[in-house]
Amino acid sequence: MEGTKLLIIIPTYNEAENIGLLIESLFKLTLPPEIDLNILIIDDSSPDGTGDLAKSLVPSYPGKLQVEIRPGKQGGASAFLRGFSRGLEEGYDLFLAMDADFSHNPVYIPRMLEEIKTHDLVIGSRNVKGGSIENRSFLRDLITKAAALYCRICLGCPLRDFTAGFNLYRKVIFQAIKPESIICRAYSFQIEIKYKVFCQGFRIKEIPIMFPDRLRGVSKMSRKFLFDALFDVWKIKKMKSRDTPLDQFIMFAITGGLGTISNLVLFFFFADLLAISANPVSIGCFLIAGTQNYILNHRWSFRQLTGGEKPSVKKWLLFLAAATGGLSINLIILNSMLHFFDLPYKFIAQAVGILAGMLINYSLAKYMVFRKKKTLSPH
Ligand code: GDD
Ligand code: MN
Repeated sequence: MEGTKLLIIIPTYNEAENIGLLIESLFKLTLPPEIDLNILIIDDSSPDGTGDLAKSLVPSYPGKLQVEIRPGKQGGASAFLRGFSRGLEEGYDLFLAMDADFSHNPVYIPRMLEEIKTHDLVIGSRNVKGGSIENRSFLRDLITKAAALYCRICLGCPLRDFTAGFNLYRKVIFQAIKPESIICRAYSFQIEIKYKVFCQGFRIKEIPIMFPDRLRGVSKMSRKFLFDALFDVWKIKKMKSRDTPLDQFIMFAITGGLGTISNLVLFFFFADLLAISANPVSIGCFLIAGTQNYILNHRWSFRQLTGGEKPSVKKWLLFLAAATGGLSINLIILNSMLHFFDLPYKFIAQAVGILAGMLINYSLAKYMVFRKKKTLSPH
């Protein structure tokens, strides 16, 4: 990285006790020689005079410290976005977003700069091994971890700290994801950016940080924002029409349920009403229901794997073979459980058999029948 222009963006609102110390410790960091460090403070006319205080420091760091004062309180997320847009216009290569209150310790910056050489986004994460939240109660810690898990499952995205505010971005990210297109605020803002970055296939790295609660000043984030974020996750998920493994599994299970209903209705018609012998009818029902499942899975459950492709005979046969495989597993489990265990009810063995058969079917469908052809990723 020859002459890498780094912009550290710090939003402030009533951080007079912190800002001077933070600016000083950032400029004192020992960084690789190619890094050209610049700081941009975005203050929303803090009543405690943070903006003026920051401005008074500008002459001490000629050309390296910029202070932008906005007329009224617009929120930290909006301040970060302003910083990203401005940084893009001014030709910066790297953007580091951090808070002013020392919850984001500058000592992690060299490590983040090291990791950005091979990644597009480096997150200072509290939830990876080695990371932590200091001086917080067990309960608050648990809530944070549960919220992270919730995001992971809903979004089907393997990150651990979605709401982290200590992030180093390469310029490419904001060229691909325009800052103006980020609509969420507060905690949800952090989730939205990370999810979009993930969906675009960028390389993300989470490095562990210790996150202490602020010592000076007061937090501007209310508990309400955290609650909002739980709902916003669904809004964020919809912004990118991307089905998660859980979504696919639910659609696959519904498809299977509908197939079972068709199977039973047909069976009743031919075997009971028309009195045709049960075995051939059962096989016929299996083929018809299997075909229905194939089409529904192709068009619906795995639509993002099959894309605009038409259903094919080859895949249909493969799907039926997979279904037969699932059925065999079901039968094997049913029989061995009945043989080896003394069960109060036989249907318990059938239930376990169905579950195992379904998991096998799902995996075969996903990784064999509807497997996506490799496409080129951005890297
Ligand atoms: N310009 C501006 N305008 N800055 C603001 C505003 C505002 O309206 N509100 C807050 N800030 C600044 C604060 O001065 C601080 O530097 C930073 O934004 C974070 O604000 P805090 O009040 O310290 O937020 P927090 O500690 O509750 O939340 C932080 O951690 C969360 C994860 O626990 C933030 O980094 C969140 O983004 C993060 O999700
Ligand atoms: Mn804070």
